Amino acid sequence: MKIHQYERLWLIGAMVLIVGFIVTITYGAVGLGITMVDDREATLPPDDIDDDERFADPRVEQVGEDEYEAYVVAMTFIFQPNPIEVPANSEVTFYVTSRDVIHSFTVVGTNTNTMVIPGEVSVMTVEFDEPGEYGVVCNEYCGSGHHDMEGELIVHPEDEFTLTELAVDAPESVAPGDDVELEATIDNGLLEDLDVTLEAEIGDETFEEDVTVAGDGSETVTITVDGEELGEGDHDWTISVDDETESGSVTVGDEEDGGDDS
Ligand code: CUA
Repeated sequence: MKIHQYERLWLIGAMVLIVGFIVTITYGAVGLGITMVDDREATLPPDDIDDDERFADPRVEQVGEDEYEAYVVAMTFIFQPNPIEVPANSEVTFYVTSRDVIHSFTVVGTNTNTMVIPGEVSVMTVEFDEPGEYGVVCNEYCGSGHHDMEGELIVHPEDEFTLTELAVDAPESVAPGDDVELEATIDNGLLEDLDVTLEAEIGDETFEEDVTVAGDGSETVTITVDGEELGEGDHDWTISVDDETESGSVTVGDEEDGGDDS
């Protein structure tokens, strides 16, 4: 059969295009690691988020030497936690769920991007090699505040990264003859031990104590101050560990405005 030369060129061109289309579609479907959000991960009804041990307290957790997990909750019109903080040279698996409507979790300038569907948990593993700051935005229209729905992802230099939390339990008031007890609990979210110095200030008195908190553990330090030495009245206190600071005020004696610690 004789095929005209131009006819042949058009045929070859058409074949090249068809093969090209198939290759690009296959690459897009398989090669980029794009997957559907589905219920291979356990589903999580929005009403159960507050009872779920991963999402009730949205946070970043260390699970291996350079491996972290981030539990993120999207809702109108915020992301929790915010900012999300992770170290450089790490592999972070994001678990993202929604409390209300469909959102997205999109890390600007990267290919980290997922729909966040109420009832489902979206999972993505991302490697961060360099320190940096990224915006996190929602790109699914979710209501009147959609355009304001943004968060931040901070990748810290590896040696500056901590997962330290400080909580202080302090009385609002004590009787004049009693001691003031400030109970500081330091939480270490990293797997390695944490050596820190706890600094406290109340009235004119200052305290310093070196504390070692075991990996994935917590340590409670109690600071006791004689109420009589402080004297009657209001006394401000501050307790700090690393970058974490808590402060408050305690009243010694029955001040009209602060005596009742109901
Ligand atoms: Cu959330 Cu748009």
